[in-house]
Amino acid sequence: MNTLTHKKMILGITGSIAAYKSADLVRRLREQGADVRVVMTAAATKFITPLTLQAVSGQRVHIHLLDVHAEAAMGHIELARWAEVVLIAPCSADFLAKLTYGQADDLLSTLCLATTAPISVAPAMNQQMWQAPITQENCQRLQQRGLKILGPTSGSQACGETGIGRMLDPLELVHCLQDLFQSGPLQGKKVLITAGPTREDIDPVRFISNRSSGRMGYAIAEAALAQGAQVTLVSGPVSLSPPSGVHKVSVYSAQDMYEAVMTYIPTTDIFIAVAAVADYRPVQQATQKLKKNEAHLQLNLERTPDILATVANLPTPPFTVGFAAETHHLADYAHSKLKHKKLDMIVANLVGIEGIGFESEDNALSIFWNGGSIELPRKSKKELANQLLEIIIERFLRVCS
Ligand code: PMT
Repeated sequence: MNTLTHKKMILGITGSIAAYKSADLVRRLREQGADVRVVMTAAATKFITPLTLQAVSGQRVHIHLLDVHAEAAMGHIELARWAEVVLIAPCSADFLAKLTYGQADDLLSTLCLATTAPISVAPAMNQQMWQAPITQENCQRLQQRGLKILGPTSGSQACGETGIGRMLDPLELVHCLQDLFQSGPLQGKKVLITAGPTREDIDPVRFISNRSSGRMGYAIAEAALAQGAQVTLVSGPVSLSPPSGVHKVSVYSAQDMYEAVMTYIPTTDIFIAVAAVADYRPVQQATQKLKKNEAHLQLNLERTPDILATVANLPTPPFTVGFAAETHHLADYAHSKLKHKKLDMIVANLVGIEGIGFESEDNALSIFWNGGSIELPRKSKKELANQLLEIIIERFLRVCS
């Protein structure tokens, strides 16, 4: 379920260099199905043209408060009533102050006073301006009134300084907004899922990989989203599109997947490792295509990092679910992985059997945890993913609450 579909949204843009990101933000909000109307302050129009925002939003851009034509079409009060959510991004220090003191001397500030819709702001300003006690005080007062402050984040700034004050990236803002409307047992929880195969290059044209299609992992991502989670999907090369609302990170090799997972893991609540990660990779990758001069070719392989074991053995691991793909002794191998990798749960499936496991639409799962197990007989991967998520949630809430 995409929580932004058909949401009536006002995007307020104020005077900040980060306004150049607003066009991308509009595009991403619309991709999620939101109905976006842009309202700009006069200062914002110095950083990005209304024409650009009109083109990306597909709607007239609103700028002036006392505009006879605009008021005759959709007046400011009507616009304020229409909105189901207001996002001000970027929000300058000046506009934060305006909101705090309830000023209404332009269209955007008037709308903010007149609307009952929840308001979120994404501050963007010089780091010193952000740290100024009055700005911090303003933010606190706005938060006490129920406004959501999204970001800012730190990094190098347009003014040449480095520090906190950069606007969150458009995609991060989209995720924050999705959270506002999410419901379900995983609301506010972050779920990280790996899916698909990895590729380990032998030379520029050949690689070692496996038959994983990504179907099982993508179905689990969709099921986690439907339960209200904020979902990041670290995916190897597959031909599937991610479910709308899922943040996809594309990777190639086991090492890439390891690095992507480690980036997101500190803020992850539940980690589900569905990917068929290559266990071995060539010690050296030839820079030129290998020639078939010899009758035999030996590849020297080394182990790839074990992503699942690394996560499960962190000092404060998330609730960690592993998969086990086995051709025989399913329960024994699954139990051994559960214990040795110190997992919270393991989901075992038989592979090498027609119709289930790799590539197929269907699967059958045997789920084990310390002191319990459950069998989910053959069904579509989508149906199994929903059943599996319910079991994960039940265990997660028991173990982590
Ligand atoms: O993608 P599909 O076509 O839909 O197929 C689904 C699937 C069969 C790939 C899936 O259901 C599945 O079984 N995934 C795990 C495949 C696998 O690599 O199993 P394993 O038993 O070799 O690995 C055990 C666990 O360790 C897995 O959670 C794996 O993601 C993880 N692992 C393995 C190696 C490694 N270097 N790092 C890891 O994190």
